Amino acid sequence: MPDFSQVSPEPSLTPSGQDLAPFNTLGLPARADAFVTLRSVDQLNALSDLVSQYPGLLVLGGGSNMVLPTHIDSLVARVALAGVHLIEARSDAWIIEAGAGENWHDFVAKCVEHGWDGLENLALIPGTVGAAPVQNIGAYGVELADRFSGLTAWHVHQRQLVEMSAAQCGFAYRDSVFKHDAPGTWIIVSVRFALPRPWRAVLEYPDLQRHFGLAGSGRAGASTSTKGVTPTARSVFEAVCQIRRDKLPDPAVVGNAGSFFKNPLVDATARDALLAQHPGLVSYPQPDGRYKLAAGWLIDQCGWKGKQLGRAGVHDRQALVLVNKGGATATDIMDLAAAIQRDVAARYQVTLDPEPIVWRDSGKK
Ligand code: EPU
Repeated sequence: MPDFSQVSPEPSLTPSGQDLAPFNTLGLPARADAFVTLRSVDQLNALSDLVSQYPGLLVLGGGSNMVLPTHIDSLVARVALAGVHLIEARSDAWIIEAGAGENWHDFVAKCVEHGWDGLENLALIPGTVGAAPVQNIGAYGVELADRFSGLTAWHVHQRQLVEMSAAQCGFAYRDSVFKHDAPGTWIIVSVRFALPRPWRAVLEYPDLQRHFGLAGSGRAGASTSTKGVTPTARSVFEAVCQIRRDKLPDPAVVGNAGSFFKNPLVDATARDALLAQHPGLVSYPQPDGRYKLAAGWLIDQCGWKGKQLGRAGVHDRQALVLVNKGGATATDIMDLAAAIQRDVAARYQVTLDPEPIVWRDSGKK
């Protein structure tokens, strides 16, 4: 396995207090009593030694999918394992391995630069490589699981590095085993991707169809657009960046955690009943016969887009994104989320599940 250490630090880890506001993209005030940065796989044993002294372990990547409380007495480990390597140039796929601490977007950009194409639809997603499998990130018709080859993770209690296949990771829509096993069980160390060769553009998503002039042409999957351009991995990468910048707030400017709710899955009977009552309902058929409802549409229809409650608000161009209006705490965000959930349930009889991990600490001092 390649060495994902940036420098060669001492294997020991000394926890110190840390303000986590800069380490969560919602920009919530959060103070950790004990914080360490993991820069080398050589430090994993030291981390396991430390864990028993604390009520829990919070593993932090880019903090882009987390709602943090104001005080955290668990040990917080920020994963900063670096490195991107071409493992194998197979005739049917590029196999690329990246350290869990790599910034996701920079990694995607690097792959496109090298001609290792296939991740471009996932451009500009905030967070790290190691966080990507946890929620099986997905956007514009591609999910991490579609490009996944395997990963290496440290089992914190058994103190061993474990190789995991896609089946072992249990990927589903915004879901994996890492969201179900007790928090602090696993530290993802590196992720391997299989990027299929020859490359094929994935342009079925409506926003991309429109961007490339394929919309309404009945040419889903066509390789040349009515605008006369043949999409390349680079142009798809740039299109995705532009589409996201147009409707999603930049966490560096406005605190947010991307989509705050998952798009709910309902069976065909429920979807048909809703559609009869609400003809504008946006829904997408799933391979298993169920339908995914556009949660952003449901929230928008309830009148929440651009609205504010306390110091938390709903983004004015994408109702699925909750934003920090300045000085918000986890309580502000969760109060707004609860109000939205109540309205959507009352009007559409649909339960919205939060997408980010909501960290609840032990409360011990
Ligand atoms: N819509 C509205 N009002 C809104 C927002 C959306 O009417 O305020 C409608 C749109 O017009 C569209 C539909 O809802 O018809 C879906 O909206 P959009 O295409 O923006 O995608 P989404 O389903 O809201 C999902 C992902 C995003 C991902 C996009 C593109 C989830 C929870 N979210 O959003 O992921 O970028 O598709 O693939 O699955 C994220 O997870 O953080 C994230 C941004």
